[in-house]
Amino acid sequence: STATSIAQQKFNNCIMNASGVWCSDEKELTIIDNSAAGTFVTKSGTLQPREGNPSPRYFETSWGSINSMGLPNRGLDYYLDFVQKLQQQKRQKHYFISCTGFNVQEDLLLLKKITDADFKGIVELNLSCPNVPGKPQTGYDFATVDMILKNVFENYAGPLGVKLPPYFDIVHFNQMAQILNKYPLAYINCVNSIGNGLYIDDEKEQVVIKPKNGFGGIGGDYIKPTALANVHAFYQRLDPKIQIIGTGGIKNGQDVFEHILCGASMVQVGTALMKEGPDIFERLTQELKTIMQAKGYSKIADFKGKLKYL
Ligand code: DHB
Repeated sequence: STATSIAQQKFNNCIMNASGVWCSDEKELTIIDNSAAGTFVTKSGTLQPREGNPSPRYFETSWGSINSMGLPNRGLDYYLDFVQKLQQQKRQKHYFISCTGFNVQEDLLLLKKITDADFKGIVELNLSCPNVPGKPQTGYDFATVDMILKNVFENYAGPLGVKLPPYFDIVHFNQMAQILNKYPLAYINCVNSIGNGLYIDDEKEQVVIKPKNGFGGIGGDYIKPTALANVHAFYQRLDPKIQIIGTGGIKNGQDVFEHILCGASMVQVGTALMKEGPDIFERLTQELKTIMQAKGYSKIADFKGKLKYL
């Protein structure tokens, strides 16, 4: 079985979409809901709907992707309404709603809306969008992360996790883990895209996306080693009550296996889902099952976090 649970909520599959991919409206979310994915997470909802940045704003390369979407979304109310409709169908399935404010006051307003809507699923607070011009990635400002989490947990009672940017220094893993361990987080999601990369078309001697003169978040093959390092660094450092969702560079069953071996309880697929579409969930699930069978593992817990050292 590839079943898992996050915040005591059960999911029949540990594989799902990453926020931003195939989750911008009811049509896309319904397709993920009806796919082999364990559940879905919505595009990060903001207080007001947003058009996002000018196009082209997503570009696929041989080894991954670069994007500067700029948080195009229907607004949090839209996603809450849709998930509420699904909840009312009295199914056992739970969903993730991603949201992001432009300051702590906005974060608290978003969480108030979620509380008032009697949302039964899990909140993913996005602390790591790299693509809004003039707005730094919150996850790199440690004091602000601490302040936001303090306010969030004084005001929101439901299960909540945070989406983090990748970190690249052992001291940063230590410092961030120390902050995260102070709070009753359900989970952390490692990692968002590697921010502000630059991909170039050599023939045209030109950038490939329009916003920010071509700078954008990097996903896909490029980021798997960074993602695995973040998943495992936090697995080593966090209170075991804080679970980990692994995101970054997953395009086959082996990649899923590696994220779980590093400590992930669930995994999310972005760039490869964008490329292949929602049929990818069936393929990844079968590939993971084949690997587990060959290794004699019958459940995720048999190998989760059990990475060996030399
Ligand atoms: C966007 C990109 C991200 O990596 C993120 O966390 C949120 C939003 C975007 O550009 O829309």
